[in-house]
Amino acid sequence: MKTWVAACRNSNAPAKIVIPTGAFLVGPVVFQGPCKSSEPIVIEVQGTVKATTDVSDYSSPEWFSFEFVNGLVLTGKGTFDGQGPKVWHYNDCKTNPNCQHLASSLRFSNVNNAYVEGITSLNSKWFHFFIYESKNITLNNVKITAPAESPNTDGIHISASTSVNVTNTAIATGDDCIGIVQDCHNIYITNVTCGPGHGISVGSLGKWSYDKGVSNIVVRNCTLVNTTNGARIKTWGGTTSGEATGIIYENIVMKNVKNPIIIDQNYGRKNQVSPVISFKNQNRV
Ligand SMILES: *[C@@H]1O[C@H](CO)[C@@H](O)[C@H](O)[C@H]1NC(C)=O
Ligand SMILES: *[C@@H]1O[C@H](CO)[C@@H](O)[C@H](O)[C@H]1NC(C)=O
Ligand SMILES: *[C@@H]1O[C@H](CO)[C@@H](O)[C@H](O)[C@H]1NC(C)=O
Ligand SMILES: *[C@@H]1O[C@H](CO)[C@@H](O)[C@H](O)[C@H]1NC(C)=O
Ligand SMILES: *[C@@H]1O[C@H](CO)[C@@H](O)[C@H](O)[C@H]1NC(C)=O
Repeated sequence: MKTWVAACRNSNAPAKIVIPTGAFLVGPVVFQGPCKSSEPIVIEVQGTVKATTDVSDYSSPEWFSFEFVNGLVLTGKGTFDGQGPKVWHYNDCKTNPNCQHLASSLRFSNVNNAYVEGITSLNSKWFHFFIYESKNITLNNVKITAPAESPNTDGIHISASTSVNVTNTAIATGDDCIGIVQDCHNIYITNVTCGPGHGISVGSLGKWSYDKGVSNIVVRNCTLVNTTNGARIKTWGGTTSGEATGIIYENIVMKNVKNPIIIDQNYGRKNQVSPVISFKNQNRV
């Protein structure tokens, strides 16, 4: 935390934080801006950071949280190990609608102009990456790994964000490989391999009345193997507003995928009437 504060206050020269080789036990940390430098802060992870496993440490459901940062590079060959296997049994979200969420490993909220490359995220407690209210974020050559049966370990969950690219990334997990939810625009996903996992999903959308629409989501040159779904769009029955437009899945290879293309307009509220969805450019779906 001291290093972050020093880097964030530094305005003279580009700042770099190095997490050296070795293994380090780390509880929840908040890397908060705004920072002074006009250059991005670089964080290079060489070693392995392991999350503490006492769930009462996490008053807010994040492990590494980046907030209000403009310009960030997170790089290196290191690993963020969420130590999920030690806490997944606390997740009762399947049966308890008011369940407590466990911690997402890497959360970007109100982060602009960030580049993430090379790192591995292993066994998150909840989502691996959670991108929220952020702009111009690229994840390239990242590796995300959790077992098929791990609960809610979404690879990359993107919400209320614009201009997010995910490229050259391998995701194996127990929930959505990538989930793109409300108010996301200009999302490009290229050369991502997914499996095991629940597929590359748009939605769920429309669960809450404040949910906004999504636009321009392009998933191209991706491979899904051993997943429950492939290209998936899920919206809640009873949705009153919101529009999902410009969604393209193109050149997708699927092997052993249970539901290769699935558009579910009654997700969640099964007994409610769905909104009208119209499809254009069907030949490109
Ligand atoms: C987007 O972020 C990258 C850093 O990852 C930066 O180099 C680039 O200038 C940003 N693009 C815009 C349009 O701000
Ligand atoms: C994402 O990729 C698209 C298509 O290649 C490109 O137009 C856009 O600028 C990229 N955005 C970022 C955030 O890098
Ligand atoms: C696709 O991504 C993988 C890493 O997951 C990489 O090894 C491969 O070179 C990439 N392919 C292309 C065409 O960039
Ligand atoms: C997608 O793959 C095709 C070949 O199948 C290649 O021509 C194209 O450049 C690739 N596009 C991207 C964005 O990687
Ligand atoms: C897919 O499942 C088959 C059968 O269980 C397994 O042999 C294969 O290694 C799996 N492939 C991937 C990429 O997970």
